[in-house]
Amino acid sequence: TTTCLILAGGKGERFWPKSRTNLPKQFLNISGNKSMLQQTVDRLQKLMPIEQIFIITNESYAELIKAQIPTLPFDNIIIEPIGRNTAPCVGLASIIIEEKFPDSSMIVLPSDHIIKNEDEFVSILKAAVEVSKQDDNLVTLGITPTYPETGYGYIESTDQTIEIENHIVYKVNQFVEKPDEARAKKYVDAGNYYWNSGIFVWRLPVIRNHIRMLMPQMHDLLESMKTSFINSPRNEVIKSYFPRMPDQSIDYGIMEKANSIYVIPCVLGWDDVGSWTALERINDLDENGNAINGNILSLDTKRCIIESNGKLIATLGVEDLIIVETDDVTLICKKEKAQEVKSLIKELKVQK
Ligand code: GDD
Ligand code: MG
Repeated sequence: TTTCLILAGGKGERFWPKSRTNLPKQFLNISGNKSMLQQTVDRLQKLMPIEQIFIITNESYAELIKAQIPTLPFDNIIIEPIGRNTAPCVGLASIIIEEKFPDSSMIVLPSDHIIKNEDEFVSILKAAVEVSKQDDNLVTLGITPTYPETGYGYIESTDQTIEIENHIVYKVNQFVEKPDEARAKKYVDAGNYYWNSGIFVWRLPVIRNHIRMLMPQMHDLLESMKTSFINSPRNEVIKSYFPRMPDQSIDYGIMEKANSIYVIPCVLGWDDVGSWTALERINDLDENGNAINGNILSLDTKRCIIESNGKLIATLGVEDLIIVETDDVTLICKKEKAQEVKSLIKELKVQK
């Protein structure tokens, strides 16, 4: 069997003020008329029934998920009491999913990415599941890099390949999470590096074994939790153990240190919608290079990202700005500062 874990606990802070603490990016319609999470679930249902799809999130979002995905069994929402980044998410989910689907190949993926080529997505994941069944492989989906992004992981491929269902799969030499700019440039120029899409496939026993070897402290906590699940209510066990988990991403905790990694290069029309500037890549631009959405009058306005919430936004003689209006907030930001929007949130005393 194949199972899937959707990571849906992120805060989407760089998408403020549209993304809010009580309604982060994954629950919003950024492109299309469904939320990013709903689109993610739809896409996965082309690969497996809803009973095999699990979502891990903070307890404050459980009701929201129930409302957005009413067909999902409530037990498939795994609730973490506090955010401990993605390695503990994968660890906790692995011991819960293995109760019902012990030897399944588990697809781990974010809840807030855009994937335009759905057929390719389905076909690549089928191949990735096949590769995960061979030996003890960890499989990643790689994107050809176009610029030296320092917010991504980079995957160096070797010449060693296997061919599965018309897809070429490369053995990985190394996985480097978020390199500095100089190294990112080197990797983009080298030609045999891919961006980590954040989509992983592995068999449950294989990832558990990697956790045992590479994150032994987390392994011990997971084993204790399994024992406690027998006699105590699950939520109480998670509440007491989860805060003791290391605060670490799966990329740093496992992928950078693991050996048997394979990458499948793919053209998914992928975008991680990291910040407001993503809208320039996702949306059609007007003749002056503006990405505009809503009630907008712009004259002599170039390369701006503007989103109105009904009220008319009128601009004249401005360039390279992000202007976003919601019911209670207006954001005006230089495009080059898009990554720093989250620093505004730190300063907010009340409504985030
Ligand atoms: N449930 C839960 N709990 N989900 C979380 C948590 C958490 O504590 N932290 C993050 N997530 C979710 C986010 O919502 C997102 O969907 C996914 O996990 C990845 O987390 P990010 O915080 O967005 O990671 P990143 O962007 O810094 O880097 C990752 O993604 C890049 C591609 O977008 C890495 O995997 C990089 O290597 C990769 O290139
Ligand atoms: Mg991200």
